[in-house]
Amino acid sequence: MGGTGLERQRELSVTVEVHVRPGDARRALRSEVLAGLCSGRQPKELSPKWLYDERGSQLFDEITRLPEYYPTRREREILEAHAGDIARASGADTLLELGSGSSEKTRLLLDAMRSTGNLRRFVPFDVSERFLRQAAEAVAREYSGLRVHAVVGDFERHLGKLPGGGRRLVAFLGGTIGNMKPAERARFYAELSAGLEPGEGLLLGTDLLKCRDRLFAAYNDRAGVTAAFNRNVLSVLNRELEADFELEAFEHLAPFDEENGWVEMRLISVRPQAVRLPAVERYVNFAEGEVLRTEVSCKFRPEQVEAELTAAGLRLVERWTDAAGDFALSLALKR
Ligand code: SAH
Ligand code: AVI
Repeated sequence: MGGTGLERQRELSVTVEVHVRPGDARRALRSEVLAGLCSGRQPKELSPKWLYDERGSQLFDEITRLPEYYPTRREREILEAHAGDIARASGADTLLELGSGSSEKTRLLLDAMRSTGNLRRFVPFDVSERFLRQAAEAVAREYSGLRVHAVVGDFERHLGKLPGGGRRLVAFLGGTIGNMKPAERARFYAELSAGLEPGEGLLLGTDLLKCRDRLFAAYNDRAGVTAAFNRNVLSVLNRELEADFELEAFEHLAPFDEENGWVEMRLISVRPQAVRLPAVERYVNFAEGEVLRTEVSCKFRPEQVEAELTAAGLRLVERWTDAAGDFALSLALKR
């Protein structure tokens, strides 16, 4: 496999395929910083993928347990009720999971696929290598006989590297699709759909539009975990680009933007400041109150999700929501 690494971890049935090496990630981060922070663009912006170094992945896991952060609990509720329906309707023997993180809820799907007698292979795919390796090993330990093939990749660049073979179901859970803006999302659906065989499926988790107070609480939690998650991206810049961001010089705020239908995570400069970025030989200036946008989290109407999937050649087979109607899981098959 030209330029990629494939390793077998002997004791467990885990293989790891690497498409993003640390050097590649650092180069990509440097060019994003030049475009997003140093080019005069307003607001200054970084892709949310940089939030997920090992500490960021741990902080996200903490977020999923916060009382205010409902999406994970709601999606788990849907999976508890319908994983069997999903396993049967997809007929899949291979589960690929994009942005797999801890793959915690995914165990409900793996259990259901095992009950149908079909489960052969699990392919977690994530950009956060160390966290992915740990999560893949944990699944392999729990599901003896299951082939676990982890892929370290960027789902905005490496969907073409998704392994083929068997009958595949791609799970994209947690509402992570909402972290892409509409144009990126359309590209993502089109590329994913192009790589699927007719009858193969996508299981998509989407957070639904709801009152702004609940959205605000979910992204501005009282314990300050989301604030720490957000500021952690500055530690990533400090470590990877030898930058000298002071974390306390930025405040976290995540308001709901009604017009765009997304919650937007911001880091707001508390004073005028110039931050050194030696790895790109620049300074970046912030005015007092200036915003660095680190993530958008789109909230959807169910019909919008269906229309976007249909436009990409994916036929909605079924949609499930939790009892409160907060979150939706859609199963779509390639036409
Ligand atoms: N699916 C899990 C985790 C969601 S957190 C859940 O539902 O709880 C989002 C995950 O996507 C993180 O693990 C992060 O590392 C990963 N991720 C973010 N951007 C990515 C990208 N561009 N390519 C691959 N993985 C990405
Ligand atoms: C991973 N993603 C779906 C989360 C979300 O809700 O958009 C990330 C997150 N950002 C702040 N809190 C959680």
